[in-house]
Formats: sequence, structure tokens, C-alpha cells
Amino acid sequence: MAERMSPLLALGLLVAGLCSSVHCLPENVVVKEQHRRVDDHTLASSNTDFAFSLYKQLALENPNKNVIFSPLSVSIALAFLSLGARGSTLTEILEGLKFNLTEIQEKEIHHSFQHLLQTLNRPSNQLQLSVGNAMFVQEELKLLDKFIEDAQVLYSSEAFSTNFGNPEAARSLINNYVKNKTQGKIEELFKRLSPRTVLVLVNYIYFKARWKIPFDPKHTQEAEFHVSENKTVEVPMMNTGLEAPYFRDEELGCTLVELMYTSNDSALFILPDEGKMQDLEAKLIPETLTRWRDSLQPSRIHELYLPKFSIKSDYELNDILSQLGIKKIFADADLSGLTGDGDLVVSQVVHGAALDVDEEGTEGAAATGISLERTVLRTTVRFNRPFLIAVVLKDTQSIIFLGKVTNPNQD
Ligand SMILES: *[C@@H]1O[C@H](CO)[C@@H](O)[C@H](O)[C@H]1NC(C)=O
Ligand SMILES: *[C@@H]1O[C@H](CO)[C@@H](O)[C@H](O)[C@H]1NC(C)=O
Ligand SMILES: *[C@@H]1O[C@H](CO)[C@@H](O)[C@H](O)[C@H]1NC(C)=O
Ligand SMILES: *[C@@H]1O[C@H](CO)[C@@H](O)[C@H](O)[C@H]1NC(C)=O
Repeated sequence: MAERMSPLLALGLLVAGLCSSVHCLPENVVVKEQHRRVDDHTLASSNTDFAFSLYKQLALENPNKNVIFSPLSVSIALAFLSLGARGSTLTEILEGLKFNLTEIQEKEIHHSFQHLLQTLNRPSNQLQLSVGNAMFVQEELKLLDKFIEDAQVLYSSEAFSTNFGNPEAARSLINNYVKNKTQGKIEELFKRLSPRTVLVLVNYIYFKARWKIPFDPKHTQEAEFHVSENKTVEVPMMNTGLEAPYFRDEELGCTLVELMYTSNDSALFILPDEGKMQDLEAKLIPETLTRWRDSLQPSRIHELYLPKFSIKSDYELNDILSQLGIKKIFADADLSGLTGDGDLVVSQVVHGAALDVDEEGTEGAAATGISLERTVLRTTVRFNRPFLIAVVLKDTQSIIFLGKVTNPNQD
């Protein structure tokens, strides 16, 4: 069962929810299956757990909107950052990513991501998939050799020397890099960048695959899509009949159809019964996905109606990550594994994602960016030698006590 699940979970999920603006879409969950097996079940199940937790926060904060993100991109970016984290900052990131640190060590986590990145980037003629990392480093910032080496070896990160003193030029350098790596689909990862930035870490994903059984564009017709109880929109509705893995889940009140790509990866579409979206969202846990995987059976679907859609979102994840327990990186961070000093803090975690589904297949892209700044130099005054004390009454400026403490433990 775990064997069967792992390739699916390895890449994580691209999740789309309900829309009210642009084009209107079904409440879809699209699951992309990796084309080759990763033997690390722990990584896959932690990533799925994190994916669903992040989904719930995003759906909660964006009610009645489309939701689209790449949990895998966020996981990789945070794991990459964790190379530079120490102490409780490190524990928080890894536990936030749903790793059970009594079962898996930090080193194993990084090696699992290394293996996953290598597996995902293996060339395939059935699928375009690229996943990568980069870091943009302020010219004078001295990163530790250990961090630079781990970034290259474990996360295959490219490194670029950057002048953040000109934040607009730095922002356009980073955004153009991401735009290029995502085939133009993620155009502006960072909407702003502070001149105090000294380091930016980036993860990007680009994915393009064709359906094993494409839809015939001649059969695509305008049809109604029920955005909510009283709101209907017209959408281009694709239509086909096919043999596909199918499951009617009576327990959760939803219907599932899995559509295969030529690479044998797949997208899982989940349609809750009317009014059941919230109940279903609450049950999105790794065990549910396992149960679905085990229950899908090849079936004849006489008529399948699926809208063509193209959706895009961007998020600043600072608050959401804090809610998921990853807090210290933003305020009280120990990121001394980056530079040897403890004076860096994360200022923004941003994420952008786009997903297009049409008659031919699916194209998706996502990127996650983490910017770091120096904290204001802390003012520290330590009364650890003899000192004077004067107690002054405010109104009259009378000194009512004056003293010298040479030994606080007088007795
Ligand atoms: C972590 O793993 C240990 C040992 O398998 C287990 O006892 C514990 O409940 C797990 N913790 C969480 C939060 O799952
Ligand atoms: C990305 O950059 C490479 C190398 O500079 C270039 O050959 C390629 O055309 C660019 N791709 C896009 C989509 O801009
Ligand atoms: C939909 O319309 C009906 C009848 O006009 C009304 O009772 C109901 O409250 C509306 N529902 C929503 C969600 O607006
Ligand atoms: C996909 O699976 C089918 C059936 O198992 C197999 O015949 C085909 O070669 C696979 N295609 C790829 C690209 O792996």
C-alpha cells in the first residue's frame, strides 16, 4: 500500500479550489504522480501531510476563491532554508514540514530531498518536468563553506552574487530567473524586496504533460458551472467517454476520477457532493488519500464533463507558516548555519503557482521565494559588574533612593 502510494506523493499535489473571479472551475484536487519510484515513504507521507495542512490554511484564508499552489515547492524551499537553521529554529521548520524527528534525522531528510530532486529531474520524453533551487547572495555576505557545499550537493542550488543595494534591479534579476525557469508562467514572484535583503532562496517547478486519452476539442462546449448555490457561470466544458480509475466514496460523499498522462503520472479529480466541500476539506489527511488510492478501480465512464481552466495564485506565506508552527524564522531565528552569525531573519516567504488544464493535457508551474535580512543590531547591556541605582519620583524629581550595588548577594 505504501509502495503504491509513494510515487504519487513524492511530487506532492497541485490543488485547485473554487473560483469566483476569472474562469470558473470545479473544486478540483489535482495529484501529479511522479514518473519514477522514490523509495523514501517517510518523505512522501510527510510531504503529503504538509500539503494538506497548507491547503487547509490557504482555503480557510481565501474562502470562495480558487486555490492553487505547489506544496512540494514550499517543502523544498523550507528544507533548503533549514540547512542554515540551528537549535529550536531548525526543529520548528522540520516539524512544521511534518517530519517526526524521533523517526528521521535531519541528515536523512536532506538526503531524501536530494534523491527526490535527482529523480524528478531525470529526463523523460513523455513529460517535461524540472525542479530546481537557486540562491541570490548579497556581494559582501560571507556564507559558510559548509552551507554553500550542502546547497550545491543536496539541493543542486545555483548561486548568484547580487547587489540588493539596488532592490529593484535585484528583484528583476530574481523574478526574471524564475520566469525563465517556469517558461514564463510565474512572472513576478517577488512583488517587493527590501534594500536590507542580503539573501534570497528560490525553488521553482515546471511541469507539462499530455493526457493519455486527450479530449476532442470539437466536443468542448459552453456549459453551466455552479460556483455556489445561487451563482452560475458559463465555462468551456470538455467532454469524453473513457475507461479510467474511478471511485464513488459514500463515506465522504464524493466521486473521484483519475486521468492518466502519457508518462503514467496522473491527475486525481475529486468532486464532492453538493454542499459537501467543507466536510471533504476537513477530511483531507494522508490516510484519506491512501484509502482513495486503494479504492480506485478501472471503470467505464460513459460521459465525463470537465471544464478547461487556467488558474493562478500568489501568496505571502509568513502568517500561514506561523500558524503551522514555523514561527522563529521570522523573528527570533537561529540561522547561524548560513553565516556563522545569528543575525539573519526571514522577511518574506512568497509563493506563486499557475495551472492550465485543457484538451491536450496539463501545464503547471510554481515557485517559492524566501528573502532574508539582517536583524537590527541588538542593543545589549549587561549589569554584571557593580552599578549605581537612583530611584526618582517623577512629579517632583526627588531622588528617594540612591545606591551602589557591588554585590547583589550581600548575605
Ligand atoms: C513520532 O514517532 C514516534 C515513534 O515512532 C511516535 O511514538 C510518536 O507518536 C510520533 N510523533 C508524532 C507527532 O507523530
Ligand atoms: C531562458 O534562458 C535561456 C538561457 O539564457 C534561454 O535560452 C531561454 O530561451 C530562456 N527561456 C525563456 C522561456 O525565456
Ligand atoms: C440563494 O437563494 C435563495 C432563494 O432566493 C436564498 O434563500 C438563499 O439564502 C440563497 N443562498 C445564498 C448562499 O445566497
Ligand atoms: C505506462 O503503463 C503502461 C501499462 O502498464 C505501459 O504499457 C507503458 O509502457 C507505460 N508507459 C510509460 C511511459 O511508462
